[in-house]
Amino acid sequence: MSDCSRTVDDVRTFLQSSKGFDPQQMMRFYDSWAETYEQDHNLMSYRAPHLAVDFLSKNFSGSPEEAQVLDVTCGSGLVAKLMVKRGFRHFVGVDGSKGMLEQAAKTGLYQDLKLALLGPEPLPAPTGVFDVVIIVGGLRAEFVPVSIVRELYQAAKMGGYICMSRVDPKSESGNNYKVSLEKELQLMEEEGLWTHVDTKEIDKYMMTVYNNHNNNKNEQYLDGTMYLYRKSLN
Ligand SMILES: C[S@@+](CC[C@H](N)C(=O)[O-])C[C@H]1O[C@@H](n2cnc3c(N)ncnc32)[C@H](O)[C@@H]1O
Repeated sequence: MSDCSRTVDDVRTFLQSSKGFDPQQMMRFYDSWAETYEQDHNLMSYRAPHLAVDFLSKNFSGSPEEAQVLDVTCGSGLVAKLMVKRGFRHFVGVDGSKGMLEQAAKTGLYQDLKLALLGPEPLPAPTGVFDVVIIVGGLRAEFVPVSIVRELYQAAKMGGYICMSRVDPKSESGNNYKVSLEKELQLMEEEGLWTHVDTKEIDKYMMTVYNNHNNNKNEQYLDGTMYLYRKSLN
């Protein structure tokens, strides 16, 4: 239910209550958050879906109208709502939270929505089918393990695009995750599985989730990174 009196500090306090949750608890947390997720993300100046869709669209060389898109950790459907404005029409979404998938279903944009706790469960997607596989906001230590990257690759068709966008939390686990992720991306390039299209650092990905009364405005934001790869043709 929307609550206009909610403040950024309320959202931060709510988010901090999920610290230390295991994957199942995290999905129940998202279930409880689903109805106010988009409103709260507006409050947190969450720019990731806009930036990722922009980044992808600038590099995508196919026909958006015909492209099959797999939206991994689709949440409430913010990414599909933005991609539709760029001409994309065919979406399949995957998320581990039933509540978030119910919000995504309300957009009416997804042909199919699949519930899966990624990591413990495999990505529920056929091999070699999607022109675009996109994951926004799911690549972090508390969410989806780095091993998902090979599953994203598997789901893409030859020549398909794999677009990944993540917040870079200022924590040791956040840094370790980023190092492992980038090692895996690089390794897959060396294996000839895909080619690197572009990587972009994002300034002010979203507001920090930690209550901080620091007057330095830059300290109140987290940065992020976007990666774009293209599956090899052989
Ligand atoms: C920050 S939200 C991003 C949602 C959407 N892509 C967006 O940008 O608005 C993270 C999403 O990842 C999902 N998620 C986190 N861990 C997951 C897991 N292990 N398996 C499946 N979904 C997961 C959450 O349910 C949530 O919808």
